[in-house]
Amino acid sequence: MNANMSNTRWTIGSVLLGAVLVFGFYGIVINATESELFERDALYIEECGACHLAYPPGLLPVQSWRGIMLGLEDHFDESAEMDGETTEHIANYLERVALQKGKPSPMSQMLRNMPEVPPLRITEFPSFVKAHDEIPKQLQVETLAEGFLSPCADCHREAADGMFDKKLLHPGYGPKIWGND
Ligand code: HEC
Ligand code: HEC
Repeated sequence: MNANMSNTRWTIGSVLLGAVLVFGFYGIVINATESELFERDALYIEECGACHLAYPPGLLPVQSWRGIMLGLEDHFDESAEMDGETTEHIANYLERVALQKGKPSPMSQMLRNMPEVPPLRITEFPSFVKAHDEIPKQLQVETLAEGFLSPCADCHREAADGMFDKKLLHPGYGPKIWGND
């Protein structure tokens, strides 16, 4: 896998974050060296990227983000509780940049067939399930364990930048290749 590249990116990320902390400013960080597909927030990346990829906020609609932010004390069986000020800052950010009808983005396909009460997990959205339905077959398993597809960046090399195009999978990933060895 592309470990070097993601290390470099983490280093760049840490330097940026460091700079933000040094200036005592938890504002909006637009990472100018990457494609500017969405507004970034240093506090979100730090707090919500501590255990997993800081999911690009445009992957989920506001209802799902609210559900997540209101349930941090039992967040998928772990505690992700934060102080009130941090929680409020992140909740406001997510409300602002969430997936929205009529706001085109590379993640708009998540809206397809979305139920009225959307799930909390990205990996349970109908369009997500459909996009990944070949994967169990190619891995020759009946079903994937819950959470198997949650680390997007394992396969999508531009996941942190919100780009999930098939063409941007890590080399060697993808049902066509898995089926051919
Ligand atoms: C203490 C660790 C921890 C922190 C901090 C944390 N998470 Fe999580 N998160 C998890 C775990 C564990 C899962 C479930 C992963 C799995 O099933 O493999 C998860 C899953 C998720 C998912 C669902 C991914 C999917 O499967 O579609 C979302 C969305 C999410 N977290 C958002 C957040 C947000 C937003 C924050 C910050 C407010 C946050 N997380 C902070 C541990 C954490
Ligand atoms: C185990 C590898 C793997 C993981 C993990 C994974 N994906 Fe994928 N994803 C794929 C593959 C392979 C395809 C292309 C499927 C095909 O060719 O039909 C795909 C397709 C997609 C597509 C459709 C792309 C297109 O060009 O139409 C989206 C959107 C997507 N993934 C988002 C995500 C998100 C968001 C996550 C994390 C929550 C994720 N994926 C996790 C392997 C993965």
